[in-house]
Amino acid sequence: MPGSIVVGTQWGDEGKGRVVDVVARECAHVVRYQGGHNAGHTLVVDGETFALQLIPSGILYDHVVPIIGNGVVVDPYVLLAEIDALSEKGVDCARLMLSPQAHLVLPYHQILDELAEAQLGANKIGTTKRGIGPAYADKASRIGIRVEDLLDPDHLRLRLNSALAERNVLLRDVYGHEGVDPDALADELIREVAPRVAPYIGDTIGHLHEALHAGQRVLFEGAQATFLDLDHGTYPFVTSSNPVAGYALVGSGIGPGAIDQVIGIAKAYLTRVGSGPFVTELNDEVGDLLVDVGREYGTNTGRRRRVGWFDAVMARQAVRLNACTEIALTKLDVLDQLETIKVCVAYEVDGQRYEYLPHLRRMHDRAQPVYAEFPGWQRDLSEVTKREDLPREAVEYISFLERQMGVPVRFVCVGPGREQYLRFAA
Ligand code: GDP
Ligand code: IMO
Ligand code: MG
Repeated sequence: MPGSIVVGTQWGDEGKGRVVDVVARECAHVVRYQGGHNAGHTLVVDGETFALQLIPSGILYDHVVPIIGNGVVVDPYVLLAEIDALSEKGVDCARLMLSPQAHLVLPYHQILDELAEAQLGANKIGTTKRGIGPAYADKASRIGIRVEDLLDPDHLRLRLNSALAERNVLLRDVYGHEGVDPDALADELIREVAPRVAPYIGDTIGHLHEALHAGQRVLFEGAQATFLDLDHGTYPFVTSSNPVAGYALVGSGIGPGAIDQVIGIAKAYLTRVGSGPFVTELNDEVGDLLVDVGREYGTNTGRRRRVGWFDAVMARQAVRLNACTEIALTKLDVLDQLETIKVCVAYEVDGQRYEYLPHLRRMHDRAQPVYAEFPGWQRDLSEVTKREDLPREAVEYISFLERQMGVPVRFVCVGPGREQYLRFAA
């Protein structure tokens, strides 16, 4: 069946949104399956920038049905603000479908996220402080509030009372916060939020199954990335959901047979926001140049991203974990000025060489990079649209990465604009 997954192969911000925006031209539905408004997906269309947090990146096309699946955690205030902002720009959001089983991120989740980070001090995760971790924790603890609860005021009030009976203990006794009044929050949600969210709630699972059976292509848009994954990432410096491709199934309610394409998105170098290991990190003038040229500041929080060389060990592992069928390589143009480009081809840990991530997480912290070096092309790639027009050095760099990852690069981006990309034939 015609299902495609777009998944980040690094630590996020690889350019998933912009690739989805291009691939969505040939799709009928675009589905977000996990994460929440910790994501920031940027699209640049005709010079206008759209920074999406919750709404799938297919929203800009009239022919696409954007779907927020059951695996997403939704801050309803952010969702409504995003709908309003897009409507002001002339984008119609009436087609948006929201799963009734998606969980809500509510103000007390955000407060808990902020207080937990403050308490961790120097050991903080560096979260986006959006309340994502506490919302997923409540889901697993079975005290979460779901989108469908908004449709039943009495039930919503009961659920909020039992959730806050637990969460207020934490807020008051551990963090010295005054706590959140469940009835005041219920009143506000019933009065201001529910009537505006209700029209978007629909049978997302039924809709997706009918579409797939009718042969319509469905695109699943991952947020965050493989190494921020709760199971497969650099725990505990991860997010609280599973961004890997496998979760596209769980987070939208379909089975494995529906997927025939997994596009791994990889930046031509590497970035990370927040704490945690980073084997190829650059704390020198090359790093400053990559931050400057690549504008490596968070779409969402404005934080300066940490930068480093492409890490083929991580990429290889990501290809395995997600069963990537192809790679989209983004931000190649950011390397334009460099004389020399490095790629980490293996790790050395305690004198032993690793081609994949060492199986014990703590070994990652001690890993030393083994580098291969390449001459840069030192030419502006931002206008290149055909493979034949790429400099020889750029073609060699791409081919080397392909061999390192063991899957073809089918898509190369050379600028943030919608048309700034090259497609490599199969
Ligand atoms: P996402 O979270 O994976 O969707 O990525 P973000 O939108 O957070 O970050 C990617 C950033 O790089 C955005 O500002 C994009 O506009 C920009 N971008 C995407 N592709 C390219 C590219 O090929 N070249 C350049 N220079 N910028 C790009
Ligand atoms: P997109 O979809 C980059 C990072 C945070 C922090 C960790 C946990 O735009 O690629 P959280 O708020 O999720 O509990 O934070 O995960 N993080 C991201 N980094 N891109 C993202 O999303 C991210 N979403 C979360 O910086 O290190
Ligand atoms: Mg982002």
